[in-house]
Amino acid sequence: MHIYLILLALIGTIWASLFIYKIFSFIYIYFLRRSKILVYHHHHHNSSAPPWAIITGSSDGIGKQYAYELAKLNFNIVLHGRNATKLHHVRTELHDSFPHLSFRVIVADASKSGPEATSHIKEIVDSLRDLHVTILINNVGTGGHIDGSVYSEIQDTPTEDIDHLINLNARFPAHFTRAVVSLLLSHGGPALILTMGSMAEFGMPQLSLYSATKCFDMAFSRALRMEMMLAGRKNVEVLGIMTGSVTGVTHNESQSTLLMPDSAAFARAAIERVGCGEDVVAATWAQGIVYKMVGAMPLALRDRSLEAGVKEDMEMRERNAKKA
Ligand SMILES: NC(=O)c1ccc[n+]([C@@H]2O[C@H](COP(=O)([O-])OP(=O)(O)OC[C@H]3O[C@@H](n4cnc5c(N)ncnc54)[C@H](OP(=O)(O)O)[C@@H]3O)[C@@H](O)[C@H]2O)c1
Repeated sequence: MHIYLILLALIGTIWASLFIYKIFSFIYIYFLRRSKILVYHHHHHNSSAPPWAIITGSSDGIGKQYAYELAKLNFNIVLHGRNATKLHHVRTELHDSFPHLSFRVIVADASKSGPEATSHIKEIVDSLRDLHVTILINNVGTGGHIDGSVYSEIQDTPTEDIDHLINLNARFPAHFTRAVVSLLLSHGGPALILTMGSMAEFGMPQLSLYSATKCFDMAFSRALRMEMMLAGRKNVEVLGIMTGSVTGVTHNESQSTLLMPDSAAFARAAIERVGCGEDVVAATWAQGIVYKMVGAMPLALRDRSLEAGVKEDMEMRERNAKKA
């Protein structure tokens, strides 16, 4: 009996210590530490020109805000998207606000796949070889179908939407990262690969393809982090950003709340998390609590919460559609 009591006390102490450690590390990550983003603001030998950040899907939403936030920190920016007119408009806006910086535009439809699409990615990344690139933000992604709708049961999801979501959210980021890594490693200095995940990765009903592809993004990011570490590239940071709902994006213009920040606040918060030492981290403390709680919930409770979240979002979209 005595030995069981000692064992129980030991397990209790370890559990309590881990719990306290997790609480302190949460407080440290969100309230005490400073971002290490400026580690990536280093110059090419022979040049004092600011370094470059490449941001995919930066003609709108969170990607556009990443561009603004990094420009504020004096990074030159490569903007990527599918719509040349929209991209040039964003470039002009950025140039007006930050005339001392340079901005380039690359156009590639991320929903395309196959040898032609892959060689197009190689071509556009080759056209950036003259730049001192220190940051890649894999931001492009969508939960939307080709017709703009979001929710569908798998048997009702058109086959072309399955390919659309897999190409945009998984194939493109994989091929693009493969091509850009050579630029990031070429200078031997610190480099950052930041990839956008989604809390949908817990498995959201009627969002099976989106959930699966976002799971791909975070598994890819986690594995890449380990790959860099094992190869001894300790100055290459690979960070996944776990994302809950964000407003001020193409498909959501609602009022922001604590749990649903606008895209500018979200991009700022994600940049604040750089260098935190995690493999995947939520950008804001409020979404961080939700992420930890949903991960720790018993399955039955998690099922109910995810179902409620989807229902609420469906209703919000219906209300917004009626208003429009
Ligand atoms: N907003 C949220 O609540 C939320 C939640 C979880 C995760 N995320 C993730 O956050 C990231 C950004 O989402 P967001 O809400 O900011 O999206 P968004 O407002 O729809 O912006 C997406 C960006 O990607 C571009 N894009 C879309 N389809 C493309 C294509 N086929 N080829 C090239 N570029 C394309 C868009 O270009 P156009 O300007 O031409 O449309 C735009 O620049 C995504 O990875 C998403 O999964 C967002």
